[in-house]
Formats: sequence, C-alpha cells, structure tokens
Amino acid sequence: MQIIDGKAVSAQIKLEIAAEVAAIIATGGKRPHLAAILVGHDGGSETYVANKVRTCEEVGFKSSLIRYESDVTEDELLAKVVALNNDPDVDGFIVQLPLPKHISEQKVIETIDYRKDVDGFHPVNVGRMSIGLPCFVSATPAGILELLKRYEIPTAGKHCVVLGRSNIVGKPVAALMMQKAYPGDCTVTVCHSRTKNIGDYCREADIIIAALGSPEFLKGDMVKDGVVVIDVGTTRVPSTETKSGFKLKGDVAFDEVAPRCSYITPVPGGVGPMTIISLMRNTLLAGKKAIYN
Ligand code: GUN
Repeated sequence: MQIIDGKAVSAQIKLEIAAEVAAIIATGGKRPHLAAILVGHDGGSETYVANKVRTCEEVGFKSSLIRYESDVTEDELLAKVVALNNDPDVDGFIVQLPLPKHISEQKVIETIDYRKDVDGFHPVNVGRMSIGLPCFVSATPAGILELLKRYEIPTAGKHCVVLGRSNIVGKPVAALMMQKAYPGDCTVTVCHSRTKNIGDYCREADIIIAALGSPEFLKGDMVKDGVVVIDVGTTRVPSTETKSGFKLKGDVAFDEVAPRCSYITPVPGGVGPMTIISLMRNTLLAGKKAIYN
C-alpha cells in the first residue's frame, strides 16, 4: 500500500510554476495576475481564499482579493465581474463559492469571460472539457488526474467508480476518466445519493474517487483488494485536538480502507493541496494565453 503524497507533489509543481514565472519575468514578460472575489465570512471559504492568495505569492503571481459583505447585491457583484473581464491586467479570476442565497451562482459563473475562467466553471469550459478540447479544467478534477499521472497509476480499461455528481467534482472527473487519454480510458460508473446498493458498485471498482462530502462513508468492506482510492472529502468537524477547533474528515474510513489499497490519498495532504496548485497552473496558462487569445 502506498500513500499518495499530495503535499509533496504540489510542493514540486509549485517549484516548477515558480521557475516558469521567473523565466517569464526575466525575458520581460508580464507577471500573471489572479483576482479572487470573496463574499461574506464563511470559515471554509476564508481559509481557501487565504491559501490561494498565499500560494500566488509563493509562485510569483500578482494577486488581488476583492471582498464584499454578504448583503452585496447581485447587480453589484455582476458589475465587478464585468469590470474584471475588461481589466487587461487581470489574467484570470475566481468568485469563491458558495454565494449567499439571494445571488444566482449560475448567473455569476456565466457572466465571467470564459477566457479568464481559471476555475473552469463556465459552460464553455465545461463543454470543451467534456469533448476533449483545450480549456480550463476545474481545479479538483485536474489535481486528481495529476496525482494519478505523477504516480504512474495505470487507468486504461480499469473500472472507475465516482461517488458524487457535483458540478465541481463528480461530473467533470467522471468525464475526464472516461476520455480517450491517460489518465483516462476507464469504464466509469457514477454513484450518488439515490444509488441503491453503492457497496456493490464499489466492490467492483479498480479506482474509487469519493466526492460525496459524507465523512468516512467508504468502509473497509466496500472495497476489493488492490483498489486505488482517491478521497476528495473535506468536511470540517469540530475537534479539541487542533488549535483551529476543527479538523478535516475525508469520505473514506482511512484506517479500515487503506490496508486493502494499492494506493490511497490521505485527508488532509492528498487531493486538497493539489486543488490550489491546479488553479495556479490554470492562472499560468491564462497569463501565457496558452489556451485562449
Ligand atoms: N468552492 C469550493 N471549491 C471551489 C473552487 O474550486 N472554486 C471556487 N471559486 N469556489 C469553490
């Protein structure tokens, strides 16, 4: 059994990106610039955005954090999105989700210029991804594929079971794992909250990607020996063991499942660090106009 070290892989890729930024600057190019819009004070969102901004500094990007209180109007937010679309200094930007209920997330996403949509949430990017065209691939699915690649885990002809059907993880990772490519070429089954007998599907899986947001959902008796398990869960549960007062729990009962695996990602330190790095990679591509002009 091998633990997939997302922290180490992401640290390596961070160095690769930083080196590329340094080369761009050395040859007189423009420093890539990522902007992030954060609405309200959700604890998880605050942490994610702070990490994104810090990572920008570490790789040499310029970053801008734009904050609104949770009573910002939809019109005000949309006007800011349009302003960022039109700002030539901003190469890419994200609007951290979730947004307050009175704002349509879909409307906000569709207002973002897909050429600056480094989250890969715009329907143009989602559509292009699903038919295998160059695009911004959303960060978590891209991070998962990068881990499979860097660990040289075989995927062709394997049965990949995806747990969860969210727009951010389940749907795109299922589309990517079925594509004619490496990583990919899998037979993919997507299970979700209405699936009957999920364990029966999981026990047939060579690769399980768990993205349900249900702590320790996947148990030891739900997997076969030699399975590859990718745990995308990051539920914050209260804890007296940590200074912050919470700890992250994955969708996998790690102690039971790990002994049966050929590879498994831990939580924290697996997929999480890769997600931010994938956003940095997309921002670099945006800065270089490598996907869209
Ligand atoms: N909320 C949870 N994950 C993400 C993400 O990848 N991007 C944005 N913008 N919001 C999120």
